[in-house]
Amino acid sequence: MFGSGSDSMHLPDYKEARTRDRRNYKRVHFNFDKNIKDKYRGKTFYLKTYGCQMNEHDSENIEALLIQLGFSKVDDYSIADLVLLNTCSIRENAHNKAFGMLGRLKHLKQEKKDLIVGLCGCMAQESSVVEEILRDYKWVNFVFGTHNMYQLPNIIDKAIEENKQQIEVYSREGDLVEGLPVNRVNSYKAYVNIIYGCNKFCTYCVVPYTRGRERSREKDDILKEVRQLIADGYKEITLLGQNVNAYGKDLYEDYTLANLLEDIAKMKIPRIRFTTSHPWDFTDHMIEVIGKYDNIMPSVHLPVQSGSSRILKLMGRRYTKESYLELFHKIKRVVPGVSISTDIIVGFPGEEEHDFLETLDLVHTCKYDNAFTFIFSKREGTPACKLEDHTPLKEKEERLQRLNEVVNQYFLENNKKLEGKILPVLVEGVSDKKNMYYGYSDTNKLVNFTSNKEINTGEIVDVSIITAKTWSLDGEVVE
Ligand code: 5AD
Ligand code: SF4
Repeated sequence: MFGSGSDSMHLPDYKEARTRDRRNYKRVHFNFDKNIKDKYRGKTFYLKTYGCQMNEHDSENIEALLIQLGFSKVDDYSIADLVLLNTCSIRENAHNKAFGMLGRLKHLKQEKKDLIVGLCGCMAQESSVVEEILRDYKWVNFVFGTHNMYQLPNIIDKAIEENKQQIEVYSREGDLVEGLPVNRVNSYKAYVNIIYGCNKFCTYCVVPYTRGRERSREKDDILKEVRQLIADGYKEITLLGQNVNAYGKDLYEDYTLANLLEDIAKMKIPRIRFTTSHPWDFTDHMIEVIGKYDNIMPSVHLPVQSGSSRILKLMGRRYTKESYLELFHKIKRVVPGVSISTDIIVGFPGEEEHDFLETLDLVHTCKYDNAFTFIFSKREGTPACKLEDHTPLKEKEERLQRLNEVVNQYFLENNKKLEGKILPVLVEGVSDKKNMYYGYSDTNKLVNFTSNKEINTGEIVDVSIITAKTWSLDGEVVE
């Protein structure tokens, strides 16, 4: 077992990660170490990102840090000098994918002795993963945790200079770092972190352990970032957090996500989104603000996880089927035309057929616009991992299939209602076919459309919807 680390490395520890006392984490401004700036000019990196938008956005910071070190980006790992995996722990398959990639890199490293391989992100926060890397993957050059990202330049430099495996993983949340450089994926839509971590400790979920407890960014730092994005011509921002609804609770007496959304909406950026929302913290004030401003997109991700109050209790979700439905209907009532999407887990330990039927029943009531559906995956160290689970995997797979049939039916039904309507679409790209473009509507629907005049990515255009499909809409631009 690991303690809190030795002189040369810091190792992860779930016991520490679980500690929820109000630690005074520091807010610090990042400065790049001038001594190593551009030190690796001429070298290349390949960065593979697994998992959620939070990881995608972290990778935008990581890329910028690597570029400041002098590395340039390549899209093929076999030709890179440095390969970094930004990993996800949420379900076992994400885990397996990263280990599969490590297997391929092991072979590559046998041919290319100088190859530098690193692992970061949520898996790095798991003591069992780090234990395995120390034991069986001694050739991995460095590992750093989600709280150690700002140390990346020095960790890499040390791994190369000393030619010794570096492990830097803090389990108590580290400092809240402002001023990290960012290399954004595109020039018209951007992620903006507003809160890190999660305090909810849903019994199946590993996130509170890998991402630490809730820490909000100062509102002035967020507003400054948004102001800059607007000045740079960005059209859409997505406010990010594991649970954005808890924004501000750790910092302010009376400044919440509703206030932040309102302040940003007044700044006149065309599109504002936010994700993810836990139903527990969804206030009337938030709903009112979402309904009030045209530039807050009428699209809410509201994970329900299960339609059975008994299972919700075992999941530690803090709401019942009834209170969820009350919130759901309130949002539908106050925000005209809102689309609501969700996450659902089937096969949670102890879920019986009648619980599952309640989930189907809830889906029939909510008729979601989109749903991400999963089979429960045991995550080591979480309370649900210890619960008795007598349902065979085959039965869980059948439940997932039955659930998917029902959710898909409603995706199509909702999309059909949009035939003949005109929707504003933020153009994201040109498809291979001539005159074909694609983008997302205000309600976050994928729209493929034709246009005779040339359109640039990042433009918002009106599209007349002709045909609805299950996962997308087809249309033509309104001239
Ligand atoms: N097993 C299956 N699904 C999970 N999720 C989180 N943890 C697990 C798990 N252990 C799902 C939840 C969450 C989404 C991001 O991933 O539905 O909302
Ligand atoms: Fe995980 Fe629950 Fe937190 Fe979401 S709210 S990140 S499911 S613990």
